[in-house]
Amino acid sequence: MENHKPFLVLLFFAFAIGFIAVVFVLRWVLHFREGLAWDGGAKEFNWHPLLTVTGFIFLQGIAIVVYRLPWTWKCSKLMMKFIHAGLHVLAFILAVIALVAVFDFHNVQNIPNMYSLHSWVGLTAVILFSLQIVLGLCIFLLPVSPDYLRSAFLPIHVFSGLFIFTTVIAAALMGITEKLIFSLNDPKYKDSPAEATFVNVLGLLIILFGSLILWIATRPSWKRPSEQLLHALHSNQPASVGATTDTAIGERPDPEPTSEARRRTGKSEE
Ligand code: HEM
Repeated sequence: MENHKPFLVLLFFAFAIGFIAVVFVLRWVLHFREGLAWDGGAKEFNWHPLLTVTGFIFLQGIAIVVYRLPWTWKCSKLMMKFIHAGLHVLAFILAVIALVAVFDFHNVQNIPNMYSLHSWVGLTAVILFSLQIVLGLCIFLLPVSPDYLRSAFLPIHVFSGLFIFTTVIAAALMGITEKLIFSLNDPKYKDSPAEATFVNVLGLLIILFGSLILWIATRPSWKRPSEQLLHALHSNQPASVGATTDTAIGERPDPEPTSEARRRTGKSEE
């Protein structure tokens, strides 16, 4: 891998920022808000930010870059696909519980559902995410799906994964702002109480985490090497021309040699 050190530094930084964001949201709901419970009240609502930030943002971010972790390169591609899919499914389950919490809270409190831009964008992201998971599982994990379909679908899968991740971050920022405006009364949000400043910093951490994940995921030189190259490295054989990286996430710098390598092995590279 080129630029191995900057990659590891950025990766560590991204994971640390994501983890601190989760700690921030936990402190927000436990210290500044009412805490957590499943009682139809404010405590039940608090599961919503906690689980969306932990699952839909932090776990999804890790799932996006998991193919790039150098210490996973000795695992088979199939194993990595299961880990990638498993983390996404876990993120999805947490997002669904977070939605159940907020819908239940609204219903018990007689608050209308789905009136805000935040709720429209958020629900759209969850629906797209579920589609992304189902299509990804069917096309990349079902052994019957043909190679040409996998190759054709891969760029769409990569784009929509990054698009959904970005949309989720936008939804979270809207949700955070809404919640601060709704719940801070004396002093108000505009008076900058400690909670407002703390949660604004949470928003900045989420943006930083998102941008680091997007940066890491779109560097072609940090991609998982192709199976061909990994096999050659493990067996000390010379790798064939163009057998550089897999197309897990990001654009390939030179598509021609890759197509050549694929013609020779007769295999899809997803
Ligand atoms: C409500 C999705 C994150 C605050 C909602 C609703 C959805 C949703 C679909 C509508 C529920 C209903 O109408 O009964 C999401 C998604 C998120 C996310 C997908 C992923 C990031 C957050 C975060 C906060 C938040 C981090 C911060 C506290 C709120 C608030 C409501 C709400 C205050 C009630 C007002 C409204 O409907 O806009 N969310 N949310 N959300 N969410 Fe989120």
